[in-house]
Amino acid sequence: MSEPTTLFVNASEVVTCAGPPRARRGGEMNDAVVQSGVAVAVADGRVVSVGPLADLRARHRGAREVDCRGGVLTPGFVDSHTHGVFGRPRYDEQELRAAGLDYMEIARRGGGIHSSVRDLRQRSEDELFRLAERRLGRLASFGTTTVEVKSGYGLTLEDELKTLRVIRRLSETLPLRIVPTFLGAHEIPLEHRDSAASRRAYVDLLVHDMIPAVAREGLARFADVFCETGVYTVDESREILTAARDAGLLMKLHADELTSAGGAELAASIGATSADHLAAVSDAGIAALAQSSTVATLLPGTMLFLGKPKQAPARRFIDAGVPVALATDFNPGTSPTANVSLILTLGVSQLRLTVAEAVIAATVNGAAALALADRIGQIAEGYTADLALFDVEDVRELPYWYGDNRCVATWVAGKPCYTRDLGVG
Ligand code: NIG
Ligand code: FE
Repeated sequence: MSEPTTLFVNASEVVTCAGPPRARRGGEMNDAVVQSGVAVAVADGRVVSVGPLADLRARHRGAREVDCRGGVLTPGFVDSHTHGVFGRPRYDEQELRAAGLDYMEIARRGGGIHSSVRDLRQRSEDELFRLAERRLGRLASFGTTTVEVKSGYGLTLEDELKTLRVIRRLSETLPLRIVPTFLGAHEIPLEHRDSAASRRAYVDLLVHDMIPAVAREGLARFADVFCETGVYTVDESREILTAARDAGLLMKLHADELTSAGGAELAASIGATSADHLAAVSDAGIAALAQSSTVATLLPGTMLFLGKPKQAPARRFIDAGVPVALATDFNPGTSPTANVSLILTLGVSQLRLTVAEAVIAATVNGAAALALADRIGQIAEGYTADLALFDVEDVRELPYWYGDNRCVATWVAGKPCYTRDLGVG
């Protein structure tokens, strides 16, 4: 039995992002397709049509109507890079950084990711689930309808599987669309740091035990590696991601975040779906990405929060034809924000994107960074009806009221996901 049609009416603008079902590059990123005076028809979880209200009313007699009250309707944000399962928040590190201690120096002293690892290992699956459930609920409240969530604070077979099972449970219970990523290669665990042989033993564990177990249980769609000076080398990253690919996982890479270590080149050469961070990318890295199908996922909140002056060269990526996505990097150490509109602000003010480019980056190209661009990220016929409604009249207000949350409601596959104003939806 098909469900009755729902019409989303009275939006001041519908930002459809409609276009080809793939990552947008170059000039394609500059058209978010902002339409006024149109309604959106949704049935069976999908967008049926976008057009003048009178036409849609005539075509769908008896349809239920959702009054958008003059707000702006967009595709739900696709936050394609988060580390959303963790225990204790690391607010203690902010003042250390302010006092001059670098992020990697904090890690070298056993803080940073290591401190989240110690913490997560002590927590039960139920406890982690409860913490993540609330935190992902906050992400949804900012207009996100799809969120990628990485493991990576366990760094043992058992603790990584525990984290991924929490992510699976979140995807079964929350209305959000959740994409799981295995990031067992987030750090070299402290207990594997005393010799080259013990470091090698951890890479072997990843390749021969953890990746096969994750693939067997179907616990992740992607594998990711933190490729960075002092963390995983390019050769180790290649070995780990190749094993993941052979096990049927798609690939992502934390690449050239703090230093230029050849991460972008590696991501492009092995066919990674995305290369993420890239604040320190080299010219050769930009050129390699431009020749590939890899999406450059930029995370300007991270550089802001770490107090780093250098942002990723977004304009150079776009000019070179590299598709750019924007995401929060939501995590306890370098970017504890759930606010995608704030990331749009940083996209415009720090990365020098146009508003249209920033919106495409957080919808269509976010979907492409998750290999989902044929299903989500657009308000167009046949696309899943993942929608976000904002209490603004013009889409340019989203990055403008910076730090604010104007999202009033979201829908995933046409069903209410988050609602702030009980009168809506
Ligand atoms: O994306 N760079 C590595 N991973 C995270 C930080 C994780 C943490 O500090 O807990 C990032 O910035
Ligand atoms: Fe990250």
